[in-house]
Amino acid sequence: MSNQDLNTILDNIWQHLSQSTDDLNHPWRLPSLSTQGLNGPTVRTMVLRSADPQKRILTAHTDVRSTKIPGFRNDPRTAWLFFNPKTKEQVRANGRGIIHHNNKPAQIAWNETSLENKYNYATQLPPGSKNDKPTTDQIHENSLANKYLNFAIIQCDITEIDWLQLSSNGHRRALFNWNGNTWHKSWATP
Ligand SMILES: Cc1cc2nc3c(=O)[nH]c(=O)nc-3n(C[C@H](O)[C@H](O)[C@H](O)COP(=O)(O)O)c2cc1C
Repeated sequence: MSNQDLNTILDNIWQHLSQSTDDLNHPWRLPSLSTQGLNGPTVRTMVLRSADPQKRILTAHTDVRSTKIPGFRNDPRTAWLFFNPKTKEQVRANGRGIIHHNNKPAQIAWNETSLENKYNYATQLPPGSKNDKPTTDQIHENSLANKYLNFAIIQCDITEIDWLQLSSNGHRRALFNWNGNTWHKSWATP
């Protein structure tokens, strides 16, 4: 298989990642995001909020008080896992992240966030706080203004992509590494 196939695979990955952010039914819209916690690796489901092929950036939104944040601040390396059961495609994307909190990008994203989603940042106690009973704890009131300060963007600069597609015609795997200027592309044993 030619290098052209590798180019197409990489283009398709970014195109599908980008499309998935607007498609509620796309399985890549809900990736697993892995970070280093204070006591080892941690992973959770996130909504992919944006995928920018040119800048190689993936973003998610989170509550800055959540337990993923302290570990992430210690070690900004992230691993994203996307799986499409229909196409049997797995994409693992790695890269360093930064947190946008109470800055211009956070303000813009907060302004674009639906009211319903804003309530996710309105819990009185930080996410993960233990409770005596099940509770959603979101405050349904008009003033969400100060809840903006709970809102953060995790923005990751992707430098490695490991693509795998299972098929009865033969599995295929490809590795893409960003060398600072361009993607280095190669086939790999599945
Ligand atoms: C379908 C689904 C989507 C989710 N999307 C997000 C999200 O976009 N951002 C987020 O912070 N947590 C999201 N969560 C919750 C996380 O999986 C996780 O429980 C939460 O962020 C706390 O993680 P932490 O304790 O590692 O900080 C989602 C959970 C599910 C089930």
